Amino acid sequence: MSLLREANGPTTAVRREDYTAPAYWIDTVDLSFDLDPIKTRVLNKMRLRRNPDVAAQALRLDGEDLNLARVLVNGAGCSFKMDGNQLVLENLPLDDAPIDLEIFTTCAPEKNTQLMGLYVSQGTFFTQCEAEGFRRITYFLDRPDVMASYTVTLRADKKRYPVLLSNGNLVEEGTLPDGRHFAKWVDPHKKPCYLFALVAGELVAREQRITSRSGSEHLLQVYVRPGDMDKTEHAMNSLIASVVWDEARFGLPLDLERFMIVATADFNMGAMENKGLNIFNTKYVLANSATATDTDFANIESVVGHEYFHNWTGNRITCRDWFQLSLKEGLTVFRDQDFSMDLCAEPSARAVKRIEDVRVLRTAQFPEDAGPMAHPVRPDSYVEINNFYTVTIYEKGAEVVRMMQTLVGRTGFAAGMKLYFARHDGQAVTCDDFAQAMADANPLSDLARLLPQFKRWYSQAGTPHLRAEGVFDAAARSYTLTLTQRCDPSPGQPVKQPFVIPVALGLLDANGTELPLQLAHWSQPETGTRTFVLTEASESFTFVNLDSEPVPSLLRGFSAPVVLDVDYSDAQLLGLLAHDIDPFNRWEAGQRLALRRALQAIQAQGPVPNDPLDAAYLAAMQAVLHHPALDAAFKELVLTLPSETYIAEQLDVVDPQRIHAVREAMREQLAHALHSDWAWAFETHKNNGAYRPDPIGTGRRALAGMALTMLCLTARSSGDTVWPGKAYQRFKDAGNMTDRFNALSALVVSGQPLAQDALSRFHSMFRHEALVIDKWFALQASAPDRDGNVLPAVHQLLAHPDFNLRNPNRARSVIFSYCSANPGGFHRPDAAGYKFWSERVIELDGFNPQVAARLARALDRWKKLDEPYRSAAREAIARVAAKPDLSNDVREVVTRSLAD
Ligand code: PHE
Ligand code: ZN
Repeated sequence: MSLLREANGPTTAVRREDYTAPAYWIDTVDLSFDLDPIKTRVLNKMRLRRNPDVAAQALRLDGEDLNLARVLVNGAGCSFKMDGNQLVLENLPLDDAPIDLEIFTTCAPEKNTQLMGLYVSQGTFFTQCEAEGFRRITYFLDRPDVMASYTVTLRADKKRYPVLLSNGNLVEEGTLPDGRHFAKWVDPHKKPCYLFALVAGELVAREQRITSRSGSEHLLQVYVRPGDMDKTEHAMNSLIASVVWDEARFGLPLDLERFMIVATADFNMGAMENKGLNIFNTKYVLANSATATDTDFANIESVVGHEYFHNWTGNRITCRDWFQLSLKEGLTVFRDQDFSMDLCAEPSARAVKRIEDVRVLRTAQFPEDAGPMAHPVRPDSYVEINNFYTVTIYEKGAEVVRMMQTLVGRTGFAAGMKLYFARHDGQAVTCDDFAQAMADANPLSDLARLLPQFKRWYSQAGTPHLRAEGVFDAAARSYTLTLTQRCDPSPGQPVKQPFVIPVALGLLDANGTELPLQLAHWSQPETGTRTFVLTEASESFTFVNLDSEPVPSLLRGFSAPVVLDVDYSDAQLLGLLAHDIDPFNRWEAGQRLALRRALQAIQAQGPVPNDPLDAAYLAAMQAVLHHPALDAAFKELVLTLPSETYIAEQLDVVDPQRIHAVREAMREQLAHALHSDWAWAFETHKNNGAYRPDPIGTGRRALAGMALTMLCLTARSSGDTVWPGKAYQRFKDAGNMTDRFNALSALVVSGQPLAQDALSRFHSMFRHEALVIDKWFALQASAPDRDGNVLPAVHQLLAHPDFNLRNPNRARSVIFSYCSANPGGFHRPDAAGYKFWSERVIELDGFNPQVAARLARALDRWKKLDEPYRSAAREAIARVAAKPDLSNDVREVVTRSLAD
């Protein structure tokens, strides 16, 4: 690969095996900011000492886009040089005495369009330092294993910036001449610089005082812009619930007197766990029933939880280097998933959450793991660390932690966490350290027994395939299940060793009744789900005392992040869908039935059939819809067909238009065949009383919304105007955003003539609500394509006065919705979608490389495409790659994409 970059010198990959400890430690940092959007002055006084474990050498401090004015060593001027972006001090005293280093720089927050470092959003100052943004604020050892104590003084105009926030405790504030004021903050905890934050602007806060189990008092604050106070209650409630949960589940209390969340409309990611001063994308803070959907409410709960849980997993114990990113992210995603599940009262709601999480894993992470950017949960190298905030690090990382819990049990997992903190609190450590603590706390567990092999989940990329084959021996009354694993090569890893795969399973008889499980050597049968641990390439398990051939229910609860290959008959799948005690596998059986029909129609010769679905499938869906014991949320999941992206992943050669046409045909048939059932479902789920974003209400609204879409789809072909009229009425009368948006979406998705009117009404109703306008853009950009109508609409949306490419949420709402979430609209035979993509990647890269590089990944799977798409996609990627001054971020993505 050639990754040379002229502008900022050569770009080289960073390798995990090259890690060395820092040559200096920074013990204290005293930062003073004179905040000004045009030119902010930063005085950085550090106390350093040499690391005695490392050979004496020059001090090399990272810096980026800074103007350096002064460097003092122990109060006196000194010689220094610049080496690329590094400030190099070669003549520091050689003794062990601490060194006082003073560095004075300026930067230009208003010109900071990357949103990394110190920037201005709607007149307010924010910082973003993870992963390597602190170097855009001052010269520093910008690496997570250098942990220091921070004192921060902020000075700014008092009228324009009345609120001045940083990490820790406010120790002093007061006025200054010329209408300025100051605030001084001291963080009681040592931290790596990526957790530094400051905020300065006109903000208001919702406040809540809480008392912990141990009796300590804390102040919780959610800061927003003045008009947004009425959208902060849910975030605050989520924060309180997070504090309570972490203390109850893991004995991890809030370790700060004050914990702040601040919302900004301009943010590259979801949110950031800066110590005591979380900074959030407004999307994951602001919600009330009039502006936010049930999905928004659920996302806020989990992101608030996620960032709060980082306070221990990430902040108290952090990463030694960025290759260990999943140490904090995988673990913290696992914790936020578990938290959201624990907030569900009903087991069925827990199952729904699990299904949703697995759906993300399978539609986003599995493709990543099979594509050009595939990397292990603990990568071995990167060019740009920003490109490694991936679904593999986060979601697959969480599955690896989940498997550990499966192998040691829930109590054992809590014991492992306890040992992890006993050993490593205050340290910067590795994924190995975490796994070792888990194993050592559970010495008799399968995890301890298999630890080196288990850790292949950290080192080997790619999604393993697990093949299951059963043979029933009537004479011996035994059933032998053979499990075989394989994992395809991924970039840089031609051969894979077997993984440790926990397989939770049960056996059902022909009536769907759960059978007792008894391996040949067991004296007693066991009832319920049992977890078997596969460690070899292939292993057989023989179950005895069986009167007839059982149906295996495998990988219950999705007990490992693998592709399960089993040759079920339709009858077996219908049985599992109807009877399995494991709700995940019930849903999975329905998905397999639908997928099978989709693949048949896709692979058949000739035109797309009108009726890809058969009577048995339709009857099964009808039974689920009317089932008296299943709840609405689960029904909605079962009745949702596998996505076009998921279907594409099952094929070696992908014709996106054929997939789109087949899936649309299936949906129309499901709508049409179950017409009266959908009408029943809508009528019985449409009224839900006062809005509460709880699982029951959420599920009922989701099913009502789905029913309405189905009814409008049928109306489109039948010419019926009654249901579109009802949808329009519901859109106008809705008492909450979920119902209103679902009704709007039903009209848009079904291509109803009323959609245009509803869209313009919606826009004028919410023109001042940026997050709602994002939804308005996204709905149109992700609408099902009909004869290529979406791209022209997308071009118009870009020309809309409310469109603003510089705001990441707005850019995502149009461009990502189209390029990444609308395969039928994007993969056009005339290649116009790819041309649009390449133009937007290049345009975005001019000012925000992180967002550009994410968009660049929309064509990751181009090699699977059928012609003419494949050649056109390659050309579009090559066009981007040919641009001479690309960012490292985009260059790394397109270079890997084009590599063989
Ligand atoms: N660490 C943040 C999180 O997981 C994500 C993030 C990464 C935010 C980089 C900003 C920049 O929650
Ligand atoms: Zn995180």
